[in-house]
Amino acid sequence: MNEFHPQTIIEPFRVRSVEPIRFTTRPERERLLAEAGYNPFLLAAEHVLIDLLTDIGTGAMSSRQWAGMIASDESYAGAQSFYRFEHAVRDITGFKHVIPTHQGRAAEHILFSTIAGPGDVVLNNTHFDTTRAHVENRGAEARDLVIPEGRQPRLIHPFKGNIDLDALRRAIAEIGPARIPAVMVTVTNNSGGGQPVSMANIRAASAISHEHGLPFFIDACRFAENSWFIKTREEGYADVAPIDIARELFSYADGCTMSAKKDGMANIGGFLAVNDDALAARCRTLEILTEGFPTYGGMAGYDLEAIAVGLYEALDEGYLRYRIRSIAYLGDKLTAAGVPIVLPTGGHAVYLDAGAMLPHIPPLQYPAWSLANALYLVGGVRGVEIGSVMFGLQPDGTERPAANELVRLAFPRRVYTQSHVDYLAEVILAVHADRAALRGYRIVEQAPVLRHFTARLAPLGG
Ligand code: F0G
Repeated sequence: MNEFHPQTIIEPFRVRSVEPIRFTTRPERERLLAEAGYNPFLLAAEHVLIDLLTDIGTGAMSSRQWAGMIASDESYAGAQSFYRFEHAVRDITGFKHVIPTHQGRAAEHILFSTIAGPGDVVLNNTHFDTTRAHVENRGAEARDLVIPEGRQPRLIHPFKGNIDLDALRRAIAEIGPARIPAVMVTVTNNSGGGQPVSMANIRAASAISHEHGLPFFIDACRFAENSWFIKTREEGYADVAPIDIARELFSYADGCTMSAKKDGMANIGGFLAVNDDALAARCRTLEILTEGFPTYGGMAGYDLEAIAVGLYEALDEGYLRYRIRSIAYLGDKLTAAGVPIVLPTGGHAVYLDAGAMLPHIPPLQYPAWSLANALYLVGGVRGVEIGSVMFGLQPDGTERPAANELVRLAFPRRVYTQSHVDYLAEVILAVHADRAALRGYRIVEQAPVLRHFTARLAPLGG
């Protein structure tokens, strides 16, 4: 018989436990969204049909992870679960000190509280919003230096998440190393469209940082997805296993922050890992104050077990091939239908370009917010605005349009199937066809930082 080379990349798992999803009617959704202050974050999840708010902590765990959880050690200090977790993190990252935290932002809090202060500047390809908030909370500046290609939604480039190396050199020269507590690279670049960073870029950014005596950190949330892009797009890596790509990537860094709710394949958890003994000691002191004893750091033993298994599952080739393909599958459908999205599709999400789709809504009437709400009203789909509501409010209280107006549709890991995605594409196309009818919003109530989580809005006119 002929050899069979299937074109269809199937979900590399079968489903053994199901969770029903609830259908609502259009009038119900109109009422629910109004009650939620037109903020999808304030909707009850049971009123959402397809929930693409985030890929964090929303994934399905494997039977192996559950098995590990049942066999966890819940001792307060020195639990076996911690040592299994520490072993997995060290095996993959190579970092000496592993400091568990309840999620990624707790690792950021500990790191930046320890290293950054007023007048300092942290350099990054693009700070995620919590990372930025923790840097700014210390009175420091969070400066983004992604390559210019990374700011142009429809420009095709294999590594749009790369940090601009010339800009990095210029920034170090201008600011002076004494005021730079760390250089950081976020893999993949979430706020820039889930775009990957190349190994060559990480190597070079690390070398530049080290030339000036600056510590080089990785925001490692989606390190496995980034490793897959290196494997499939960067010369010399096609035959390297994702885990070895990850190991090389971490080898250039002095430490990392990690949200295990992403490529840790867990529902909660994270860590800070560093090589420097003195820094680790200072971080652990703060950890005890805010997270817990250093062998659990805000997690239960069973969370540590889930992550110890999940980190390896995230690096499985079959999983990564399916994962990245499932995102591209939606992207291809939308592109074929003329819907503007960030190209090429990234690792964990499709980003709709609301700025391009809704030119009749000015940035400070929040076009991406309007698009996100329309997806909910039309199809019960929840995405998240990554635009001027998320990024527009400046530390001094003024407002400035964000660089892009995007709606992120982030895919929980191992949760939705191809027919869910087909339905989703139908919803997006329906909204796109009716885009001229969409209106802007105004903010009625907001918090001084991270306002998008809790703001209440009202639709304008019409
Ligand atoms: N860094 C990046 C790149 C992130 O995407 C996130 C979270 C964090 C740090 C913080 O981790 O949530 O565990 O505290 N991103 C979520 C998202 C919120 O929806 O993209 P956390």
